[in-house]
Amino acid sequence: MKSYMNELGIKKYSFGQMIPTDTILETTFSEVKSTYDGIIRRENNETLIELPLEKNDIVYGLGQNVHGINKRGHIYEAFCSDDPNHTPDKKSLYGAHNFFIIAGESSTGWYIDFAGKITYDIGFTYREKLVITLSGSDFDLYEITGTPSEIVNQFRKLIGLSYVPPKWAFGYQQCRWSYETDERVREIAKGFEENDIPIDAIYLDIDYMERYKDFTVDEERFPNFETFVKELKSEDIKLVPIIDAGVKIEDGYDVYEDGVKNDFFVRDEAGQPFVAAVWPGKVHFPDVLNAPTRQWFGAYYHRFLEMGIEGFWNDMNEPAIFYSEKGLNEGIAFVKSQEGKNLDIGTFFALKDSIMNLSNAEKDYKSMYHKMNIDGEETVVNHYDVHNLYGYNITRAAAEGFESYDANRRFFLLTRASHIGMAKHSGIWTGDNHSWWEHIKLNIQMMPSLSMAGFLYAGADTGGFGHHSSGELLSRWMQFSLFTPLLRNHSAMGTRQQEPWQFDSEVTNHIRNLIRMRYALVPYLYSEYMKANLNQSLLFAPLGFTYLDERSKGVEDQLLFGDELMLAPIYESNARGRHVYLPEEMVKINLSQYESIGEQGFEWLSKGDHYIPQEVDELYAYLRPNRLLVLTEPKNRVSQLNYKQLTVIGFVKDTATYTLYDDDGITQSFKEGVSTQTVFTVTKSDQGFDINVDTNVHPIGDVTFYLIDESGKTHVIKQSGSKMV
Ligand code: GLC
Repeated sequence: MKSYMNELGIKKYSFGQMIPTDTILETTFSEVKSTYDGIIRRENNETLIELPLEKNDIVYGLGQNVHGINKRGHIYEAFCSDDPNHTPDKKSLYGAHNFFIIAGESSTGWYIDFAGKITYDIGFTYREKLVITLSGSDFDLYEITGTPSEIVNQFRKLIGLSYVPPKWAFGYQQCRWSYETDERVREIAKGFEENDIPIDAIYLDIDYMERYKDFTVDEERFPNFETFVKELKSEDIKLVPIIDAGVKIEDGYDVYEDGVKNDFFVRDEAGQPFVAAVWPGKVHFPDVLNAPTRQWFGAYYHRFLEMGIEGFWNDMNEPAIFYSEKGLNEGIAFVKSQEGKNLDIGTFFALKDSIMNLSNAEKDYKSMYHKMNIDGEETVVNHYDVHNLYGYNITRAAAEGFESYDANRRFFLLTRASHIGMAKHSGIWTGDNHSWWEHIKLNIQMMPSLSMAGFLYAGADTGGFGHHSSGELLSRWMQFSLFTPLLRNHSAMGTRQQEPWQFDSEVTNHIRNLIRMRYALVPYLYSEYMKANLNQSLLFAPLGFTYLDERSKGVEDQLLFGDELMLAPIYESNARGRHVYLPEEMVKINLSQYESIGEQGFEWLSKGDHYIPQEVDELYAYLRPNRLLVLTEPKNRVSQLNYKQLTVIGFVKDTATYTLYDDDGITQSFKEGVSTQTVFTVTKSDQGFDINVDTNVHPIGDVTFYLIDESGKTHVIKQSGSKMV
């Protein structure tokens, strides 16, 4: 083992020669003479690391996974899994995010740079131990000390800035598996227009493809695709097509033929392209763990970019396998061999398992091989050892394809499977959840862990993917998703339709109000997004990151958003309110409807416990002391938003300042610092409030300030113009 330290004081312990994961940016680590003093054991081909847990330690992190904000008390796995049933007995979801923090008297953050499977037993088997099992012996371990916020900041510096989508991606997005024809997509677009509901994007699920072949369009169901893309663009609605990992095996299909000719597919033991099956039946997987394959696969995206498409979602890239050719043959042979037998407890279940366990089988992952360039040498690597890098790299192929198409433009990209380090290339959605109330809570609890891992552009299938949604569930879910950078309503084929108007007129009205409120919040949400990214801080934070009292540290269903707001979403059916804990005095803001934001009043609330009635058509957020919240007049598209009519809500005890960040929302020039800042300052004096709006942009128009003071009184001040600085 070798030990290193970098200029930030981060320690790194290298065990053996790890397979490169491309997660850590180049930083200078110098070798130091210290040893890792945690307990490490080797058993068979596994490595066990044990870390002590004090009684009240909290374990934060692991990115996309099940259970709460505090991960303690359960077993987890980092193994990208295509499993649509996110039930409490599951150990892993689609992402492998090996970053966590043990927070207590002192706090330490850990990142395990390793591409294979890792198991975390976090105080489950032994209450006071975290036992980590790696399926290998070559890995790098990073140790970061500081407060939880400092640890996240240092870690995010190691992995680099996160992906920034085009600004329209902060608008509302509509998706459903089963928009089967262009006519159906037109109907959906019309539904938004007729109901006067804002929207920026409609997704195309696998229905648009010709027999589920990547980079093709079914010409019967989507004739004149390019014209269709333009038609929707003329309404300022973007179409976002899906791309799956598996390439259909079909003679005459160029992606398949080209891939075979150039040896671009993942191989089996005999060196032949591995045959798995997904939506189109038999497929091969592009071997994206090497650069030439990524370049080849990424270039296919240009086809759609040429037609005016500006974004994609990459799916099934764990990679999901319905069955492998080999596995299916073995399964069928086994079933046949049981014919006529008197099956008992053992043999009946063996029969059932021989078919039920065909999907995503470990033995298939162990039969796949990649070629990787390791230290300048082409090396054959078993898929199982690098499984968690697959989704990362197929998404990276798309991102690199975008870059080679137009390096200065931002394109929209979402992926399902991911790994630490991938956040610089793409956003993620949290996969196939269900229209279950429990999954709203899971969504709430996952957002801060995703922020820690660098996945800032993220969100869940709002309304739920599997199962049937109700108007109430969609409304409550939307109340939380209003704050997630990705706001996408998505559902599975065969489930109840859940576009905003599919329930009753009350629900439609409420959802319209919410989506309009989302658009009113876009300047603020985008500003906070960019600040969290550029400052490498959290967009969503557990209360315990800011408030150090024991009570705050234990809160699992309230979050801080940015530097201004506390959110306390409702995630239970039939609820007409909820208990909210306020770690400090705050002002309750009614965000139910933009038009009546000033009339509905603001309520000052003392530190402590409150029961807050909240009917299904009501949404509240909590503004912290000496903070300002900026809203604009909502429009039906992000591109139509302007800064002419602003509303600023402030809880001002003495001085409150807010810097509203903005940029062109389209190009990469923000990376060179091309951005605008408008600084709002409100100072309370004996005479009232002094207000200053300084901007390096165009002058701001009319601003209505609602300023709430400590006594709970609201002062309404209208101001025109701003000072150029
Ligand atoms: C997967 C995706 C889901 C998509 C479906 C059909 O289940 O997670 O979002 O709708 O495939 O493509």
